[in-house]
Amino acid sequence: MSKATFDPTLYNSSDNTPFATVLERHIHRRTLIRTGSAMAALSIMASLGLSGCDSNSDKHRSSGAGSPVTLPDAEKPLTALGFQSIPGSRTDAIVVPENYKASILAPWGTPLNDRAAPWKPDGTNTAEDQANSVGMHHDGMSFYPLNGSHEDGLLCINHEYIDQDALHPNGVTRDATTRRRILADEVRKEIYAHGVTVVRIKKVEGVWQVVANDRHNRRITGATEMDISGPMAGHDLLKTPFSPDGISARGTFNNCGNGTSPWGTFLTCEENWPGYFANTAERTADQARIGLGTTGNQYGWNDLAGNESEKNDEFARFDVTPRAESALLDYRNEANGHGYIVEIDPYSPDSRPIKRTALGRFRHEACEVGKLAAGRPVAFYSGHDAQGEYVYKFVSSALWDPADAKREDRLAVGDKYLNEGTLYVARFDEDGTGVWLPLTLESLAKDGKPLSESFESLADIILNTAGAADLLGATPMDRPEWGAVDPITGSVYMTLTNNTARREANAANPRVNNKFGHIIRWDESEDHRSFTWDIFLFGAPADAEEGVNLSGLTDLNQFASPDGLMFDERGILWVQTDNGASEVTKSTNDQMLAVIPSALVDAGGNQQVISGTNQTELRRFLVGPNGSEITGLAFTGNHHTFFVNVQHPDNWPYGDDAQEQTPAGVTIRPRSATVVVEKVQGGPVGE
Ligand code: FEO
Ligand code: CA
Ligand code: CA
Repeated sequence: MSKATFDPTLYNSSDNTPFATVLERHIHRRTLIRTGSAMAALSIMASLGLSGCDSNSDKHRSSGAGSPVTLPDAEKPLTALGFQSIPGSRTDAIVVPENYKASILAPWGTPLNDRAAPWKPDGTNTAEDQANSVGMHHDGMSFYPLNGSHEDGLLCINHEYIDQDALHPNGVTRDATTRRRILADEVRKEIYAHGVTVVRIKKVEGVWQVVANDRHNRRITGATEMDISGPMAGHDLLKTPFSPDGISARGTFNNCGNGTSPWGTFLTCEENWPGYFANTAERTADQARIGLGTTGNQYGWNDLAGNESEKNDEFARFDVTPRAESALLDYRNEANGHGYIVEIDPYSPDSRPIKRTALGRFRHEACEVGKLAAGRPVAFYSGHDAQGEYVYKFVSSALWDPADAKREDRLAVGDKYLNEGTLYVARFDEDGTGVWLPLTLESLAKDGKPLSESFESLADIILNTAGAADLLGATPMDRPEWGAVDPITGSVYMTLTNNTARREANAANPRVNNKFGHIIRWDESEDHRSFTWDIFLFGAPADAEEGVNLSGLTDLNQFASPDGLMFDERGILWVQTDNGASEVTKSTNDQMLAVIPSALVDAGGNQQVISGTNQTELRRFLVGPNGSEITGLAFTGNHHTFFVNVQHPDNWPYGDDAQEQTPAGVTIRPRSATVVVEKVQGGPVGE
């Protein structure tokens, strides 16, 4: 996300026990039974003769348009990475291991159809161009194959936020006296640069390219109409002049991490959306808890309210100050349509996105689906990325039916699994266990009173999800980012990127403040109500002072601020970083590392954490260009092609070759971009 949109204010003023304290006595706790499942899976596969990585025995499910990208399965476990860790880098170029190549595929401004002019390096593309081109500041991403192909499919790309200086020829145009914004089309261009891109991509004569004018291509922007589903649908607090019945909303903002549903839809997550709205009067409880703005849209969009060209209050809606007699006459409820996970069916270009409110309303980083089992509920994990915020899980009421993965009415499948269920928040206890606390009216708060004494309905709980979680005694965390589920073991991993607001050291977490972040993991109980947890990996500079580099990292894998996190089907965990602390960035730009957690087992078959004895298994695979964050990863079903996003580079890309350095002395208009990473000779990446 970069520092540009991160809000460092501590909005959680509950007295819930900080996670740092919970860590006491736990840091050296290891093992448990967690690898029972991993070893069982490996031995079963060995007995079936499936333990190899024979690319001819490809069994990835990508049959037919609409089949899911990845169904977690343990059919091709890897036991070792096939590349060596690369050194750090600080250049205006991508760096990948020997025998790999990286090329530019879909940078900001790439036209999706003929309504857009080609991207212009002087910033003069119009709002209409932007509405028909790839958005800005790429983030989470998924690949959806067409007809089961590994060389033809759809990419869904999140666009988290914008760089106004890069978007316009000379930055923002303002009134010389008032300093308010004055150009409506400039603001529209910014709104359209947000949201999600759906784009057809295809490998032609060995080169991946964007397929312009494909019928699937579309932009979902900050202005796109979408539906509200789940507990908030039709709620009085969703009613606006635009949606008097409270069942629709306009746009999705700050789409950061993502998820992919087992039925082949894209789940995009609204993260730092509170900054897009402002209430200059007294904020409501939920607005104060989440940190909604008090002075104006962070980009000044509501400066154009009342502009003669304004249509349907397109600018006025960002001012959520109550100004009229009722909610049907002003936009006091506009922000209540934001803060959700939004489901998009990439295969159905005419379908409307749906905001899935049952999964909670907070600064959603990403959404990861738990390991599937027929006849069991489906779990969806999402972290609230702010200092001292919580980890959430939604568990569907519907039980998983594998036939649903093949249905073509995908949003109806989404209705089945994403509208009804129970939202939980996590409490991590000192003994290495944890409890999922249900966010329901019947749930008992820390004071023993049910939430029904504080909230009138489930919708009221959802509206102020974090406030309800405070009452239950959830554990404040060090900025939860992406989650990932190990397809081999079912263990859930989540990045905790950093937290410099917490300054107290303790015996179990000996760093004075968590500048470098860590990755926690847990295993669910049978009933989904509790779990066991440990810490898999601590970020740190290799030369950190004593007591900081707890995972024994070296120059070849030091990192800070873990953020993007994904498992592929082979059990490789890919870790991406964002804004590494200066102690690390003096040696390397942001990066992507890899490790196979299920292969790190002791003689007893227990999974291990990363430590000085096994840290060489954590390997740096890619380093980004200067100034950039590496975020978002998708791959083809055969793993031969990886798509990686580079967000907010300083002075890149220079050409089609992502590895080409921008020449010294040359300054270019920077473009976030999707990069293709492949082996030079072909074959599965990472092996
Ligand atoms: Fe958008 Fe939390 O990174
Ligand atoms: Ca981040
Ligand atoms: Ca992120």
